[in-house]
Amino acid sequence: MGKLLLTSGQVSIVLSAAIVFLFTFALFLSGYVLQQRYVHSLQAAIKPRLPKPLPAPIPIEPPTLNVKWARPMGGRPAVDESAEQLIAGQTLDWSRLGYVQVVRAHVELCSAVMLLADFHKMKSPAKRILMFPRIWLKKAGEDEWDPQMSTTRRLLRTAVRRYGVTLIPMETIVDGGDDSLPSSYSLASLYLLTEYERVIYLQGPGVLLDASALDSLLAFSKSEPMAAYPATPERKDLSTSLLLIHPSRESFRQLKASRSSRPVKDIDLFREAFAAPESLISDWSLSMGNVVYESQKLRDAIDGFNATIFEQATTYVRLSDPELPGPEYDVPYYDRAKLRPKNGQARDAWEKLYEKFRQRRMEVCGLDLEVWTRPVLQAVAADEGDTAAAEL
Ligand SMILES: *[C@@H]1O[C@H](CO)[C@@H](O)[C@H](O)[C@H]1NC(C)=O
Repeated sequence: MGKLLLTSGQVSIVLSAAIVFLFTFALFLSGYVLQQRYVHSLQAAIKPRLPKPLPAPIPIEPPTLNVKWARPMGGRPAVDESAEQLIAGQTLDWSRLGYVQVVRAHVELCSAVMLLADFHKMKSPAKRILMFPRIWLKKAGEDEWDPQMSTTRRLLRTAVRRYGVTLIPMETIVDGGDDSLPSSYSLASLYLLTEYERVIYLQGPGVLLDASALDSLLAFSKSEPMAAYPATPERKDLSTSLLLIHPSRESFRQLKASRSSRPVKDIDLFREAFAAPESLISDWSLSMGNVVYESQKLRDAIDGFNATIFEQATTYVRLSDPELPGPEYDVPYYDRAKLRPKNGQARDAWEKLYEKFRQRRMEVCGLDLEVWTRPVLQAVAADEGDTAAAEL
């Protein structure tokens, strides 16, 4: 009897020891897996921080034409001189082509630097230019330490040193305007970049998925005062989400005169100055896929939407959801969850874009998301996304 009891006691001891061992081992395994993952994501996070040598200025290869840019079958609607030149074996002068970001408020700076950093990371041969209010260069007095200003200076330095960005301070568009107000500055200042043959302006904040498609647009387009991304597929109006321009003093003079006569928003200023559809990027140039895509459109995704195909066919996604203050802000999970696309694949793509933005913000700017307090008035006008975000 005693022997039997002892045996069952031993059995239970062995059993519980085995169970304890198994659990410990499972815990160890899961801990190990987690740790490996953590190490990998740490490595991934650290990697892009390593300073990369700038691409050699000469000689520069023409951009790789990927499948998106395969010329569609059928006729070529416009003779494209630059393309002809390239085909004829002449080299493009990449030092006269560039991507430009215009920032008017401190809160916009990191997103602009991130976008230029993306072009750097994707090895675009074009120049990277950042325009910002000249007042930001003003030396602060000894005892006025402004944390916002010190972040701004740090980001401007990072842009130059790490991403080879050319800084261009800009003046207010109207002479004698209040240089402390973001609204005193205008996209019309792009036309002052006359040392460049063509520049592409992208409206942020957003995520660049493929620089080569834009490189091709920059390289193979004719120089025209304005080739804007159409506001709608009907091509009745221009939008300012992507502008391909040939800067000139003459265009600047006209825009400045028009803006000085009465205060208007940039979009209206440009719509008055440049008629559609003549001043829009040709359908032919846009036929390779989604050149500019707005994140809110993912909510309209229908069955069969494929996130992999979407990413492959998209060049740039502007993170714009009218109910959200912008991807720079930390919006509570439940507020975001309500807005996510219903379609599973589209939701994955949407979440991934916002998450990628958050990670890049940390890598490039060393900044966490901004604290967001829900505004008393929920109405944030869709077309005022950036300004609204700046004022929150
Ligand atoms: C999406 O498309 C890719 C490439 O064509 C394919 O491999 C994948 O299975 C598709 N995914 C879904 C969920 O249909």
